[in-house]
Amino acid sequence: MSLAKWPKIDVTADRTYPVFLGSSLEELGEYLHLQFEDVEHILVISHQIVAELYSERLKKGLLNYRVNLLTVPAGETEKSLERLAQLTTAALRCDADRKTLVIALGGGVIGDLAGFFASVFMRGIRLIQVPTTLLAQVDSSIGGKTAVNHPAGKNILGTFYPPLAVWTDFSTLESLPWEEVENGLAESIKHAIIADRSLFEFFENEEKSIKLREKSIWGEMVTRSSAVKVKIVSQDEREQGVRGLLNLGHSFGHALETEMNYRGVTHGQGVSIGIIAATHLAYAKGLMTSSEIDRVKRLLDTYGLPTVIKGQDPEALLQRMQSDKKNQGGRKILILPKGIGQAIVSKECTDLEILAAWKQVIS
Ligand SMILES: NC(=O)c1ccc[n+]([C@@H]2O[C@H](COP(=O)([O-])OP(=O)(O)OC[C@H]3O[C@@H](n4cnc5c(N)ncnc54)[C@H](O)[C@@H]3O)[C@@H](O)[C@H]2O)c1
Repeated sequence: MSLAKWPKIDVTADRTYPVFLGSSLEELGEYLHLQFEDVEHILVISHQIVAELYSERLKKGLLNYRVNLLTVPAGETEKSLERLAQLTTAALRCDADRKTLVIALGGGVIGDLAGFFASVFMRGIRLIQVPTTLLAQVDSSIGGKTAVNHPAGKNILGTFYPPLAVWTDFSTLESLPWEEVENGLAESIKHAIIADRSLFEFFENEEKSIKLREKSIWGEMVTRSSAVKVKIVSQDEREQGVRGLLNLGHSFGHALETEMNYRGVTHGQGVSIGIIAATHLAYAKGLMTSSEIDRVKRLLDTYGLPTVIKGQDPEALLQRMQSDKKNQGGRKILILPKGIGQAIVSKECTDLEILAAWKQVIS
């Protein structure tokens, strides 16, 4: 038996770890057996719906282990200290100890919550990420960020806790509702804009196959988009520099989501509108041409992602950006695309310029 049969890309940061792409849930046990001889007890943390769909397949490969499944209701509000405390109680009831290994089976909420749990339970136990949403496969499972929310804001309490491995089974995406696919597409297209022009062209050329969820094209989409994230976090795991580029569209998108009270706009829709606002700002700074803006708009539109929003107050949205975590010394730090396939961090955008960009995306 050898590891070579599972295609992977390595994150080469403080510690090197593999992101397996296209492996199957049933085979994870075989990998664990090969790599971690002393594992006896496994805690699978998942959502009820994901567990119903996939835990049996996962467990097929885990027959040699003592396995407990802990499920958490769906929703962003589950990324909480209360849920963390409940998970801890449940884990102790299952006799979890320092040698227990956690498998986070789910989307970004489970990845962040179970990852945070693994990072603090008995000062840190082993963690494998098994992402089941497109967003989690191409983005949140890679890079080691974990978090829970606090009434004061999203992801206020968190750790950098890279997993031992990310185990990505593309087939889990078959059951994902299209609205959730869109959230992942927004991040994948963002990856293309900031770092991979040919991935952008892939999204332009493969519209039909992507919409039909053709297996081989989805595999390629996840692999290429994950590769962008792997490359960036390998260069800058702790977000001191280049990792910040992944925030393209997020300062605008987050302001919009909070202004709308997280109702009527999904995260992916916020990011999509945010990307367009950032492209207008980039145009004003001479970093993009108007035909490149049109290309980005067309692509997002192709995948049903919005590029404008109705009835919002640009001044109020600008005000919301005042409390962005990324601001430094009162200055707004924004990510601007430089053409298609590159991006820069800008500290030089004035409020007037940002306001003008907001006006471009409000109808
Ligand atoms: N750690 C990071 O670097 C990072 C990066 C980006 C986002 N995030 C976090 O990720 C979270 C969002 O993640 P998400 O978009 O995956 O949402 P999510 O985890 O809430 O999952 C979305 C929904 O899809 C369901 N689901 C999951 N997999 C499924 C499947 N295969 N089939 C059918 N249904 C399935 C879930 O039960 C849930 O209802 C946010 O909390 C965000 O803060 C973290």
